[in-house]
Amino acid sequence: MAGNRTFTMIKPDAFEAGNSGAILKMIEEAGFKIVAMKATRLTPELAGKFYEVHKERPFYKDLCAYMSSGPIIAAILEKDNAVEDFRNLIGATNPANAAEGTIRKIFAKSIEANAVHGSDSDENAAIEGNFYFSQLERVL
Ligand code: CMP
Repeated sequence: MAGNRTFTMIKPDAFEAGNSGAILKMIEEAGFKIVAMKATRLTPELAGKFYEVHKERPFYKDLCAYMSSGPIIAAILEKDNAVEDFRNLIGATNPANAAEGTIRKIFAKSIEANAVHGSDSDENAAIEGNFYFSQLERVL
């Protein structure tokens, strides 16, 4: 059975552009409940740890530099079928391929600066949420 939680980040490009509020509005209007949230900033080392699964990819170094280039918002979201429904809401990784009306289609600048992150599995949603939030911050 699909889990009911996913994890997201509003990335530096969207935060810097002042799109956090509009993105959070779309997320809430799609039926997701925010159960933990904070504005923060990654160091290059922490970005590298978060995206360690991509460390052999050619874009890894640039991704770590970009993800530590400015503030982000990290959040745990709750909804039935959360991981799949959230990925449908944000659209394809490359905004050029994202469906009309999706968050990335509306707000992303490029395949790297693609406005938001969404977990790709229930297992990674838990790992990524735990990366940012302590047990005390996950009380809801
Ligand atoms: P995200 O969903 O957070 O997962 C990995 C991130 O790496 C992705 O969004 C993009 O920001 C980035 N990414 C994925 N593919 C590429 C690519 N081909 N070139 C540059 N960045 C990429």
